[in-house]
Amino acid sequence: MRLRGRSALVTGASAGIGRATAIALAREGASIVASGRREDALAAVAEECRQAGGEAQVIAGDLDHPAFVRALAEQAGHVDILVNNAGHLVYAPVLEITPQQCEAMLRTNVVAAFALAREIGRRMVERRSGHMVFITSGAARNVQTFGVVYAATKHALSAFAKGFRLELKGAGIKVSEIAPGMVDTDMRKGITHPEVLKSLAARKFKPISPQDVADAVLFAVTAAEGCSPDLIEIRPKDA
Ligand SMILES: NC(=O)c1ccc[n+]([C@@H]2O[C@H](COP(=O)([O-])OP(=O)(O)OC[C@H]3O[C@@H](n4cnc5c(N)ncnc54)[C@H](OP(=O)(O)O)[C@@H]3O)[C@@H](O)[C@H]2O)c1
Repeated sequence: MRLRGRSALVTGASAGIGRATAIALAREGASIVASGRREDALAAVAEECRQAGGEAQVIAGDLDHPAFVRALAEQAGHVDILVNNAGHLVYAPVLEITPQQCEAMLRTNVVAAFALAREIGRRMVERRSGHMVFITSGAARNVQTFGVVYAATKHALSAFAKGFRLELKGAGIKVSEIAPGMVDTDMRKGITHPEVLKSLAARKFKPISPQDVADAVLFAVTAAEGCSPDLIEIRPKDA
C-alpha cells in the first residue's frame, strides 16, 4: 500500500495500458480518477480498482473536445499523480491519412495531454508536490511506415515531458516519460488497410503486456522521494 493517501488521474483508463495502470495504482492504495469515453468500461475498471483496495471515481468524456478537457482538469485538479495515457492511432500510408484524422490524433494525443499537464501541473506547483507521467511510445524516437502522424504526436508528447521536467525542476514536481514498444492491446484492432495488416503480420516478436507498462508506471511513482525516474523505455525482448 505504497500509494495510500495519494490520488491519481489516469486518462484512457477504460482499456489496455490505462486500465492495467489504474488497477496497479489502486492495488497500492491510490484513489483513482478513471477517464475515457466508454462509461460502462470505466465503471467496470472502477469496480476492479475498489476490489484491488483503492477508491475509484469515473469521469467520462472525449478528450477530442476542449470543453471536456477543461472540465476534467477542473474536477481532477487535486490529484497527486497524473497519468497522461489516452491515445488514438490511425495506422495508414501517410498520403492516405486525412487532415481530419491528423487533427484528431493531435488533439487527443498532444493538445489534451498538454492542457491536462498545464492545469493540473499548476496546482501541483502550488502544493510543491506531484508526479506527472507521460505515456509516449517507441514512436517518440523512431518513425515507422504507416505510423507517421502517430509518431509525430508521440515526438511532441515526449518533448512536452522533457519540457515540463525542465521548467518544473526545483518546484517539487516529478515528470516521468514511459516509452513502450509494441503492447498487446486493442489499439490496432480497427486496422483494415491491407498493406498495414501485412506489415504488422510480418513482425515476428511477441508484444509486451499492458501489465508490463503498468509495472513501469508503478516503479516511477513509488520511487524514493528524492529520486526521479525521468525516462523508462521498454520494448519486446526480440523487437
Ligand atoms: N499498444 C501499443 O503498442 C502502445 C505502444 C506504445 C505506446 N502506447 C500508448 O499507450 C497509450 C494507451 O494505449 P493502449 O495501447 O492501451 O490502447 P487502447 O487499449 O486502445 O486504449 C486507449 C485508451 O485511450 C482512450 N481514448 C482514446 N481516444 C480517446 C479520446 N478521444 N478521449 C478520451 N479517451 C480516449 C480509450 O478510451 P475510450 O475508448 O473509452 O475512449 C482507451 O481507454 C496510448 O497513448 C498509446 O499511444 C501504446
